[in-house]
Amino acid sequence: MITFAGVTKRYPDGTVAVDHLDLEIPAGRITVLVGPSGCGKTTTLRMINRMVEPTEGTVTVDGRDVRGVDPATLRRGIGYVIQQAGLFPHRTIVDNIATVPYLLGWDKKKARARAYELMERVGLDPALARRYPAQLSGGQQQRVGVARALAADPPIMLMDEPFSAVDPIVRAGLQEEFLRLQRDLEKTIVFVTHDIDEAVKLGHRIAVFQVGGVLAQYATPDELLARPADDFVTDFLGGERGIRRLRFFKELDAEESAGAADGGGAAARAGSDGSESDRAGDAAAEGDGRTAAAER
Ligand SMILES: Nc1ncnc2c1ncn2[C@@H]1O[C@H](COP(=O)(O)OP(=O)(O)OP(=O)(O)O)[C@@H](O)[C@H]1O
Ligand SMILES: [Mg+2]
Repeated sequence: MITFAGVTKRYPDGTVAVDHLDLEIPAGRITVLVGPSGCGKTTTLRMINRMVEPTEGTVTVDGRDVRGVDPATLRRGIGYVIQQAGLFPHRTIVDNIATVPYLLGWDKKKARARAYELMERVGLDPALARRYPAQLSGGQQQRVGVARALAADPPIMLMDEPFSAVDPIVRAGLQEEFLRLQRDLEKTIVFVTHDIDEAVKLGHRIAVFQVGGVLAQYATPDELLARPADDFVTDFLGGERGIRRLRFFKELDAEESAGAADGGGAAARAGSDGSESDRAGDAAAEGDGRTAAAER
């Protein structure tokens, strides 16, 4: 579990990025931080691995104050996926994925074997291993970013808008695969997005921030949709139309869990996954149009 207790981050120029944050992030689940640009999501995420130090308050990981843990040691147990994947342009895909194992001093053969195993896990053709990042599509690069963060099998993953750079259809596919991966791995994941649809689709719990780094609501997706805490959250959910659309995602999830509970077997599950991702893809495409229109 990760906890924030009375955490404030004030940057030297006086900007309050995070304001008196209290938050408990459960182990083994996906917790999503969502909110408009500049509301303090990245700052919150980076206080977990000490890339940013709080001005006030305490962050703990599994009961330990992170200030008492050497940053390098701390980060070994925490994978970090940044926006645009942030790959090393002059290293091949396999060497990008093996970055942390190399740093940890694994021998080259073992590190590369691990990288190939992860490529398979995240749905990358091993034929891509010798390419450089610029020779991959945006979606493939994002997968490499996820594989790299998983390389040393950290119990915690921080993911900062990992799927934002790709088009809605590719994004929907990455989200589906990410959910499947998480069902196997059960990592503690803190996932940042500014897209409420993505938050509802992926999050077990969702923290909605507003500008000024104030936590507006922390709830399960169902609670959030049923009882938005205030007008800001209601607006952020996108009004009645948005809320209806979001319920659609939840229904898909319910259908999928019902299918899995029926037993169905791998074939049946694969079938239901396929149709879900097609429909979610359509919905995401439509949703993005709506969001873009609303922002203009
Ligand atoms: N190093 C810094 N110095 C001063 N202010 C900063 C610094 N880093 C971030 N900020 C400010 O802190 C606030 C929160 O920034 P942060 O990057 O956490 O927002 P965010 O929610 O991740 O935004 P986005 O969705 O655009 O990525 C913003 O007002 C930002 O300008
Ligand atoms: Mg950010």
